[in-house]
Amino acid sequence: MRIIRTKDYNSMSRYAAKFMAAQIILKPDSVLGLATGSTPIGAYKQLIEWCKDGDLDFSSVKTVNLDEYCGLSGDHDQSYRYFMNQNLFNHLNIDMNNTNVPNGIASDLQAECKRYDELIKSIGGVDLQLLGIGHNGHIGFNEPNTEFDKNTHVVDLKQSTIDANARFFKSKDDVPKQALTMGNKPIMSARKILLVVSGSEKRDILERALYGPVTPEVPASLLQMHNDLTVVCCVD
Ligand code: PGA
Repeated sequence: MRIIRTKDYNSMSRYAAKFMAAQIILKPDSVLGLATGSTPIGAYKQLIEWCKDGDLDFSSVKTVNLDEYCGLSGDHDQSYRYFMNQNLFNHLNIDMNNTNVPNGIASDLQAECKRYDELIKSIGGVDLQLLGIGHNGHIGFNEPNTEFDKNTHVVDLKQSTIDANARFFKSKDDVPKQALTMGNKPIMSARKILLVVSGSEKRDILERALYGPVTPEVPASLLQMHNDLTVVCCVD
């Protein structure tokens, strides 16, 4: 595990963007595992800038996102598909057909989970998985006490996650109660993992994840077992 401590959010974002850019330059047809949330936005902005400047080419890149709310279609402004389009994909020279987010309005959610796992396999697996960490230690929507060997699955969101995400909705009641998420298994199958963490309020959970016991109570603690994990953080 490599831990890079940066002085502020901007340096963290720049470092994360450079790390991702290096991946794309070395392997132009990389499969990137992407994340939503507030933490990666700065890195996405930087990637957009480099792409606009002609320094980075996304034309052969494929992406798979970690998760999606159940019940929200891709054009709902709080869906993760919408977030990714707005904050990244619409501004890159990426082929939209190569961008993948679980379908939260699939009529058969179990079948959708299976389709997603098969899709990841069919495109060769994830080269670089970008992750954030939730206040409760979740990665993707793998909430505390999710089995470590889960594939993509439907989750009931914990109240703490609903509360944390309520800021994006008109009211707490509008926050979906379920989501589809890549499980710990496909996440851990990524060849490289880049965890970005920002804010002093994440300091304790990050410490527990990186230095505490590996336990389903802290899903991100599983990352200790990954053989190519880079953590970029500003939590002081
Ligand atoms: P955040 O979310 O980047 O908005 O803090 C991270 C997460 O919940 O995984």
